Amino acid sequence: MIVSPTADERRAALLKTRARTFQLFDLATSEDVLHQAPLPGFRPVLWHLAHIGVFEGYWVLQQALKQASIDPRFDIIFDPIKTPRENAKVLPTRAEMEAYLTEVRDRVMRALESTDRASNGNVLLNDGYVFDLVLEHERQHQETLAALLNAMPHNTKRPGPAAPVGLRRSPRGEITIPATRVRIGGTGKSFEYDNELPAFDVDVPAFRIDSDLVTNGEYAEFIASGGYTRRELWSDDGWKWKEENNIVAPLGWSGPPWFERRFFDEGPLRADAPVTGVSWFEADAYARLQGKRLPTEIEWEAAASYDPVTGRKRQFPWGDDAFEAARANAAVLKWATTPVGSYPAGDSAFGLHDAAGNLWEWTSSNFQGYAGFTAYPYPDYSQTWFDGDHRVARGGSWFTDPAILRASFRNFYRRNFRLGFLGIRCARDGA
Ligand code: AVJ
Ligand code: FE
Repeated sequence: MIVSPTADERRAALLKTRARTFQLFDLATSEDVLHQAPLPGFRPVLWHLAHIGVFEGYWVLQQALKQASIDPRFDIIFDPIKTPRENAKVLPTRAEMEAYLTEVRDRVMRALESTDRASNGNVLLNDGYVFDLVLEHERQHQETLAALLNAMPHNTKRPGPAAPVGLRRSPRGEITIPATRVRIGGTGKSFEYDNELPAFDVDVPAFRIDSDLVTNGEYAEFIASGGYTRRELWSDDGWKWKEENNIVAPLGWSGPPWFERRFFDEGPLRADAPVTGVSWFEADAYARLQGKRLPTEIEWEAAASYDPVTGRKRQFPWGDDAFEAARANAAVLKWATTPVGSYPAGDSAFGLHDAAGNLWEWTSSNFQGYAGFTAYPYPDYSQTWFDGDHRVARGGSWFTDPAILRASFRNFYRRNFRLGFLGIRCARDGA
């Protein structure tokens, strides 16, 4: 059963989400910061502002409501396929972009009123799908924006006092997941992307998975024991990438003694916080030193969402109830990672800690469509990236919007991407 949000709920979500987008741009200490592209493979910070508006206008106004484009120039510059990264350097001003966003949003709000009463027969409007699509898209771009700002901590200002972190730690260990038949994929309880569908049942052999993310302290031991110099720990592509780019520590680390870059500043490495800023190659090498491996995305989803008592799949690790602050470090409540295992109220049925929130977790899985995959509403969200180089990341970060914490959500990045929102959890075969 699909319970779609009401027009009022969607209106409130659109407003709240937009306020967060503007807040992120306001964190920059100067206009100049917004023109930088501090991470390889990403466009300048400001590009994302108009891209959010163009995506919203394209899907709601042009595709669903068959309106004409508001500004064809914007449609080209802010379409990632039509204007490749290298050509996205000369951009309209921030004021022009904001005017564009406002115009689109005014029309979308009016559309929300009228389509609430009658759909015009366009499938994009069924259950208000297109409104949820643009909401989810904006939330994902916020995380990208935050990753860019995170790469320039001295150029951002804290929006308020730092939130205290002191939370109770759960005991750590390895969890055995017995051989089980599990349901993988969308539950139909909320908006879902094409790549989460169709859901299917699969037999998962017994395996073991760590209750916790790998900590900074543990990763520092990996470095100290020669992790970056021992060829046997690395895949061929990983070794090549590491050598060519002179990688000797996670993104944002300096030392030893180790200091870490945080969202607004730098400080001594917090040993209990989860390691982040590591590529898939580094995650893979770390696991190998432990005699372990990364979990497959199927194993991850089983450990995070299967309830062996009821035999049912949960929408979130803790169950089907909506997110609350006690469940996970998410929704930008802390502006930072928290010590691993700080949210026992959010444990999965099998006892996985931080399965939702804190950091996205690299899996060993190549990003592919599930059997019977159909691209919807466009191939460039998922299908274009079924290219063999993208790996699936699961679980959401401290930044992630609660809607995106659903256990079936699949994020995906190139193996060489290093982001302040991506971490490591290890697994291994056997019972
Ligand atoms: C799934 C986060 C990798 O940011 O490129 C945004 C999501 N797709 N606009 C990205 C996305 C289209 C995507 N990631
Ligand atoms: Fe996008």
